[in-house]
Amino acid sequence: MLVNAKQMLEKAAAEGYAVAQININNLEWTKAVLTMAQEQSSPVILGVTGGAAKYMVSFSTVAAMVKEMFKSLGITVPVALHLDHGTDTQCYACIEAGFTSIMFDGSHYPFAENLAKTKEFVELARAKGMSIEAEVGAIGGEEDGVVGAGDVADPEECRQIAELGVDFLAAGIGNIHGVYPEGWIGLDFDVLGKIRDVSGGIPLVLHGGTGIPAEMIQKAISLGVAKINVNTECQLSFAAATRKYIEEGKDKTGKGFDPRKLLAPGYEAIRQTVKEKFELFGSVGKA
Ligand code: 13P
Repeated sequence: MLVNAKQMLEKAAAEGYAVAQININNLEWTKAVLTMAQEQSSPVILGVTGGAAKYMVSFSTVAAMVKEMFKSLGITVPVALHLDHGTDTQCYACIEAGFTSIMFDGSHYPFAENLAKTKEFVELARAKGMSIEAEVGAIGGEEDGVVGAGDVADPEECRQIAELGVDFLAAGIGNIHGVYPEGWIGLDFDVLGKIRDVSGGIPLVLHGGTGIPAEMIQKAISLGVAKINVNTECQLSFAAATRKYIEEGKDKTGKGFDPRKLLAPGYEAIRQTVKEKFELFGSVGKA
């Protein structure tokens, strides 16, 4: 059975590692993440953006696919199905669809509105036994059409959001969705430390996990980060492996055009990226 993410993240925070949220985009992605989590005996969170859900038809299509795949593959490690950067409507749709976790992202609203709306979703999630993530201070860059200014979070606002009873908190600390630009100044650990001190010990979330150097990941974990989101890195490794297959003309020999062959190198590349993330975040063997 899929689980909500609260317990797995509290365990990670207590034991000093982070659980990866790997965003899924299609059937191959989902199977790649689930099989590698099982092989590495690692907990994992499957992240789904509104854009990815639309691509896969609907949130309920995704939930049905994930639940069936989880069962048919005989997965026994803890897996949560989580809405990434949800709007009001998307949160309602995921609650209806049987997701086990939601993120309400009210970071683009004036703070008072973010606080009021987050409170509403905390109560709803609680009533449904789902876990809930909130966001303060926008993550920079673009995530499936959600564009953030990259504001560093105000620790006082984090304290107020944490007090609502959210299970884990995403705070902008200079992190960016997508590939980090040349000359990126890095994560603001000063602010991260302050946020940790005022948010009552709840697990913190680091978005924009693609390309963050290992030493920054370790430091973030030591300061209370227990969930790290990765999306772009799997897309890049999938694209590179698929490009190589085609450039080597493998789609033109034998039945190399068969999607089960054409997508196989990309599928394996996603698996390897996921494995590297589990190792880097310290979640191997923590299921
Ligand atoms: P990246 O695409 O930069 O890995 O970020 C993923 C993310 O934060 C999903 O919410």
